[in-house]
Amino acid sequence: MAVPEPSRTGSPPRVFLLVFAIILTATADEAVAAGGLSIGINYGQIADNLPSPSRVSMLLRSMQVSKVKLYDADQNVLSAFLDTGVEFVIGIGNENVSAMVDPAAARAWVQQHVRPYLPSTRITCITVGNEVFKGNDTDLKDSLLPAMKSVYQALGALGLQGQVNVTTAHSLDIMGSSYPPSAGAFRPDVVPYIQPLLDFLSAARSPFLINCYPYFAYKDDPTGVPLEYVLFQPNAGVTDPTTGLNYDNMLYAQVDSVYAAIQALGHADVDVKISETGWPSRGDPDEAGATPQYAGIYIGNLLRRIESKQGTPLRPAVPIDVYVFALFNENLKPGPASERNYGLFYPDGTPVYNVGLRGYLPPMDESDATRTAIHFLALIALAFVTLVLS
Ligand SMILES: *[C@@H]1O[C@H](CO)[C@@H](O)[C@H](O)[C@H]1NC(C)=O
Ligand SMILES: *[C@@H]1O[C@H](CO)[C@@H](O)[C@H](O)[C@H]1NC(C)=O
Ligand SMILES: *[C@@H]1O[C@H](CO)[C@@H](O)[C@H](O)[C@H]1NC(C)=O
Repeated sequence: MAVPEPSRTGSPPRVFLLVFAIILTATADEAVAAGGLSIGINYGQIADNLPSPSRVSMLLRSMQVSKVKLYDADQNVLSAFLDTGVEFVIGIGNENVSAMVDPAAARAWVQQHVRPYLPSTRITCITVGNEVFKGNDTDLKDSLLPAMKSVYQALGALGLQGQVNVTTAHSLDIMGSSYPPSAGAFRPDVVPYIQPLLDFLSAARSPFLINCYPYFAYKDDPTGVPLEYVLFQPNAGVTDPTTGLNYDNMLYAQVDSVYAAIQALGHADVDVKISETGWPSRGDPDEAGATPQYAGIYIGNLLRRIESKQGTPLRPAVPIDVYVFALFNENLKPGPASERNYGLFYPDGTPVYNVGLRGYLPPMDESDATRTAIHFLALIALAFVTLVLS
């Protein structure tokens, strides 16, 4: 047995940390098994300073988070969550959508990125593309549904249909009108795409995902949009004149406008889920409302509504299903300053604001910690053997 590196064995506190982490992880896993938090979290990685997936796995489990959404199918992340019970939405990036139209490519992707992890890592949904109708890429738009169908068929060939949903995440700008909610309608130019997409989602029993940011509405018109209405604070709300339903917050109004738009295209059987929502804690001088205080109020109030299993006025019995954006501030995201400041946490694991979501980010890699523990035990064994032999 090699002599352990002094830097590792010389610091028993690390072993203590390992034990502490194991206890904490066990407790968190029990909570996840018992349901855990209902909130989902987007784990984006457009940054060069984030902790390793194994540390992030411990952070999320210590927070009792049971649902995570990725923008890719990062093997390091999926491996770090083996046997944790955490549920995953994984993604195929826009740059890979057109390749997936080919059934053989879709089969290869599923074989490589989904099959090996099931059932140990619970992948429950694949998003094919993100906000595809936001841009002007006609090829991408044309490829989207055929790619979704190929991925769906590839799952079927492996007997995984029903275990893993296939969908895509939309930006709210696919809406042509969203107020009042009952008048919700898709943009005329996207209807030819959305109609067959809805037919597919309905047949495949998969949800419709929408990224909703009431923050954008506030930022664009801070004097016209009441802060209480976007931050879930007490206010009289607005009443939809057609349905008579009262909305005390913009997020629910946005979701119900999407339900109305889907209904107008003949589908009452497709669930709407919020694949992203959030509030930036910092922004450029012209980005009104981007403060830690408002971000904390938005996320804190949203958490309470999610945990109380609240539905929207149109679907009161269907608890809102939400993935918050995002786990970390991502320093390499382009665009205005707000884009790099949507995180619940700084990369070092410190909360950006306090909403009662506290986690434990271990100070080093779990694998390092394991190695340290093995070295430590080996040292004790060696000492014991030496003692017996002498
Ligand atoms: C996705 O696209 C990137 C960039 O074009 C490419 O490097 C990668 O191999 C593609 N992945 C798959 C699974 O096709
Ligand atoms: C898409 O094209 C329209 C008109 O051709 C233009 O006004 C719009 O800015 C473009 N959007 C993007 C995201 O490039
Ligand atoms: C797939 O989506 C449907 C519709 O939202 C949902 O009822 C079902 O639980 C989802 N399946 C999985 C495996 O998450």
